[in-house]
Amino acid sequence: MRFTFVTLFPELVSGYFSGSILGRAIEEHKLSIDYQNPRDFTTDKHNKVDAPMIGGGAGMLMTPQPLVDTLKHIQSDSPNTHIIFLTPVAKQFTQNDAKRLAKKEHVVLVSGRYEGIDERVIEHYADEVFSIGDYILTGGELASMVLCDAISRNVDGVLGNSDSLQVESFESPLLEAPSFTKPMIYENNEVVSEFLKGNHSKITDLKKGLALCKTKYFRPDLYKKGIADEK
Ligand code: ADE
Repeated sequence: MRFTFVTLFPELVSGYFSGSILGRAIEEHKLSIDYQNPRDFTTDKHNKVDAPMIGGGAGMLMTPQPLVDTLKHIQSDSPNTHIIFLTPVAKQFTQNDAKRLAKKEHVVLVSGRYEGIDERVIEHYADEVFSIGDYILTGGELASMVLCDAISRNVDGVLGNSDSLQVESFESPLLEAPSFTKPMIYENNEVVSEFLKGNHSKITDLKKGLALCKTKYFRPDLYKKGIADEK
């Protein structure tokens, strides 16, 4: 699967994907990531990519021409692009979106900077628009990276052990149960003793109970939905 980041700051993004699991997936050609900078496409003699908002308002917006030319360039050599704009003014990205988008051939992630992007570009070019949460970041790069990471984990062969996808939070209506590792006692706190006894069906029941408690406490919205779905 291919990702293209459209960003004025590719260097902010590239470091993250060079290491660890995703770096390995890139080396093994399961993923590829490239970058396009709208500043390389501007026809402005001073290389500008932003302008004041029409009709007033504080701050600058990204102008259409550099972005549109960047997107046309990407589309011209890739027939199956799926273009996503990141903005706080959109529906929130979820695990279901991550799974669905992992089946796409080429996802293009467009990061806004300044006060955002001229709306006409979004209307004309977006296949989808996502926010990553109800807060404002200084740019869309972090949001694009979040999508790329979450989608990539669902691409076949990217995670070594695909079982690890199945028991995670958001793969069911419940949050994942708490997990423990060595040592058995840490600062006077012991690992839940049932976990040590090796009775797998008991451990499964216990984990389900712990997952229920955790979900009810931290995410009552998910808990209610899980109960309603079971009815
Ligand atoms: N750009 C700035 N804030 C954002 C957010 N919360 N989600 C997506 N893109 C953004």
